[in-house]
Amino acid sequence: MIRVCISGLGKTGKEIAKFLLEQKDIKLVSAICSPNSNKKGKDLGEIIGKGNTGVKIESSDKIEQIVFRTKPDVVVDFSSPEAAARNAKVFSKLKVNIVIGTTGFSDFTLKRLFLLANKHRNGIVYAPNITLGVNVLMLLTNLAANLLSSYDFQITEVHHKNKKDSPSGTAKKIADEIEKGIKHSGNDDTEVQVPITAIRAGGVVGKHDVMIIGEDDKIEISHESFSRKAFALGTLRAVKFIKGKVGYYEMNDVLNLKKVLNDYIQEENKSNKKRYKNLLGKNEIKAL
Ligand SMILES: NC(=O)c1ccc[n+]([C@@H]2O[C@H](COP(=O)([O-])OP(=O)(O)OC[C@H]3O[C@@H](n4cnc5c(N)ncnc54)[C@H](OP(=O)(O)O)[C@@H]3O)[C@@H](O)[C@H]2O)c1
Repeated sequence: MIRVCISGLGKTGKEIAKFLLEQKDIKLVSAICSPNSNKKGKDLGEIIGKGNTGVKIESSDKIEQIVFRTKPDVVVDFSSPEAAARNAKVFSKLKVNIVIGTTGFSDFTLKRLFLLANKHRNGIVYAPNITLGVNVLMLLTNLAANLLSSYDFQITEVHHKNKKDSPSGTAKKIADEIEKGIKHSGNDDTEVQVPITAIRAGGVVGKHDVMIIGEDDKIEISHESFSRKAFALGTLRAVKFIKGKVGYYEMNDVLNLKKVLNDYIQEENKSNKKRYKNLLGKNEIKAL
């Protein structure tokens, strides 16, 4: 059983709380809001449309007491970059592990998150891209950049109009993957800077499109989240991964997609060899 505390009960945090409450191997032990929030003192069930959960929502200025009393193994944070950075420091000092889904950190703050985990020897997953689908998209664009390094890459992302950071953390990470892929290809003729177009409109949960355009053809890779349940599924994997671990990790560590790809290629090679072997009899092979 993993004891989880959820910090940040906005659009995403509420969906994740609902989902975690349904998991048999997870016990939601505490829920944290901002100091002036009108959620303070309410039962978690009241704000997520469930019955009484027995989890009272408490304010982030009481983190120490909340941790001592409810003893979470992992905190899940979907709040704001300022609150997440501040709270991560306190959780780390208390040696509680954290999954940070919040986005919009400066490079300086990201470096501090990395240092926090090393200094306090707790575990942190920083996951600006928590869905499995988006991580597969990143792997595919990394491969495409390696194979098509002379092509032009463009990213467009669309999110609901209340999303605060722009461009999204995920779009920036996709750009990093493309830049890494081009560098690995050995094409270092040009300094790569992948353009990102960010659109904030309506209620779009999250959409990322990568266009890969050459002189004669074009590839498009797209990912769209239809609901926030995709974020909850990714969070559950990250929570299970970080329980009891020490150090700083990202979603590619949680999902280990490069190993999956590597194993797949090895299996493919093996079965190709077998197929050719079966095409020829022993004597035919000897005669070769
Ligand atoms: N990683 C991913 O794949 C992914 C997916 C979706 C969203 N996100 C990110 O997750 C974050 C939240 O997104 P959202 O759409 O849920 O935003 P949101 O609806 O604005 O929710 C943020 C919540 O944080 C709470 N908060 C503010 N200060 C706090 C504090 N000190 N302690 C605890 N809670 C605090 C606020 O509520 P109260 O003031 O009432 O407490 C607010 O409801 C954003 O950075 C977003 O970009 C990431």
